[in-house]
Amino acid sequence: MGSQWGRDRTYLRAVREGYRSRAAYKLREIQERYHLIRDTDNVLDLGAAPGSWLQVARGLTEGKIVGIDLSPIAPLEGVTTLSADLTSRELRQEVRSLMGTVNVVISDAAPKLSGHRSYDQARAIGLGEEVLAFACEVLKPGGNLLMKSFQGEDFSSLLEDVRQYFLSVKTYRSQASRKGSSEIYIIARNFVGCRNEAEGSI
Ligand SMILES: C[S@@+](CC[C@H](N)C(=O)[O-])C[C@H]1O[C@@H](n2cnc3c(N)ncnc32)[C@H](O)[C@@H]1O
Repeated sequence: MGSQWGRDRTYLRAVREGYRSRAAYKLREIQERYHLIRDTDNVLDLGAAPGSWLQVARGLTEGKIVGIDLSPIAPLEGVTTLSADLTSRELRQEVRSLMGTVNVVISDAAPKLSGHRSYDQARAIGLGEEVLAFACEVLKPGGNLLMKSFQGEDFSSLLEDVRQYFLSVKTYRSQASRKGSSEIYIIARNFVGCRNEAEGSI
């Protein structure tokens, strides 16, 4: 964690408070403001490693919590973890069987950066569309979605896509994001359902 996140004050605070990464404070901040997770909600975390959002979510709900990442996630009491690619279609069925109802999808997923700005932006937006499609297939009507994205080319188009499926959609820049970062969170509440794939939707 040290080399990846840098030893700044937020990092040191995370170590002191037992979180696996500084990202914990982003979810805590968003939860304080928007109350996305209620105390019996089942929560699916996409792009969950090393697991600090899972730690925060575990403290917020008595419901089921499932975390998925390409990288393995060290065991966490009361949390089910899967090593898998969130873009896999088969995974959606597996999650439905495992969780039954999914009330909230949270995703901090981000692709590895190549250093080529427009290529990285396109991949980040593409991953966001995958997260949205996943949420659309598993979320219960009325459910909530929190998704990380990046401001730049095609961000507004992703946001428009999210707006099609939720009654309320807002964006939020976290105080815990690094200065100068284009990171932005999409907060979508009250899922109204998706058109199915046969109709040419996501
Ligand atoms: C910023 S980290 C998440 C930090 C996490 N929220 C926490 O609090 O510990 C982003 C994660 O997204 C994951 N990721 C990126 N693409 C993915 C994919 N296609 N499927 C699953 N996980 C993915 C990465 O492996 C990485 O662990």
